[in-house]
Parts: sequence; structure tokens; C-alpha cells
Amino acid sequence: LAKIEVKLGEIPEGKNVTFKWRGKPLFIRHRTSAEIAAEAVVDVASLRDPEHDEARVKKPQWLVVVGVCTHLGCVPIANAGEYGGYYCPCHGSHYDASGRIRKGPAPLNLEVPEHEFVDESTLIVG
Ligand code: FES
Repeated sequence: LAKIEVKLGEIPEGKNVTFKWRGKPLFIRHRTSAEIAAEAVVDVASLRDPEHDEARVKKPQWLVVVGVCTHLGCVPIANAGEYGGYYCPCHGSHYDASGRIRKGPAPLNLEVPEHEFVDESTLIVG
């Protein structure tokens, strides 16, 4: 299956960059320290699809998710919505900066694909 290599130095802090991977949008988000801190303390029991942020990221500053809304497959907008992560305009799903569903009709968190950091500046997804 196809892998993609991403040079992390090209993604500034606070930015979400969209790549194309296996025919789908792939979001790579360079999270700020405020985002990292906020997601770390979310009460997992309050979530529709309960997952701790730590279980979704391999390095706190990098969120890697498939950019496909788990409701009906639209592409969410980055840095939008009530939880500061992503907002799907099709039917109003709000995701946090860990890609977890927080409000709206989507049933599940944004998918975290297989990924690994091969060195400080290189990420392989797939
Ligand atoms: Fe995203 Fe319906 S497809 S909210």
C-alpha cells in the first residue's frame, strides 16, 4: 500500500496542511503548546468516541488524521468549529485539536492512520 513521506519542517506551528494519500485528504497539524495542553486534560468519559489524546498522537506536537468526516464523508475545515480543531460544514460536526468528535452528527473521531517518525523532521504515513 502507498506510503507518503512528509517533511515536517515545512509545516509551521499552528498550521494544518492537507496532503493527498490513497485518494483521501490527509491532515497533518503542527499543534501549538496551548492545543497540546487543552487536549491532554479533556475528560475522556465525556467523549462520544472515548480516546485519550495520548493514544492518538505519537508526538504531542503532531496530529495526523484522515481528513474525512466520519458522518457522511465530507472534508472538514481546519482551525474552525467550537472546539478549535476541525469543523465539517456539511451537517455541522465539530472536532477538537485531537480530531475527536465533540458535537454534531458524526459518530466517530477522525481516523488516525498508521504513521511513524523516522527522524526529527520526517514522517511516513501508511
Ligand atoms: Fe460531516 Fe455530515 S458529513 S457532518
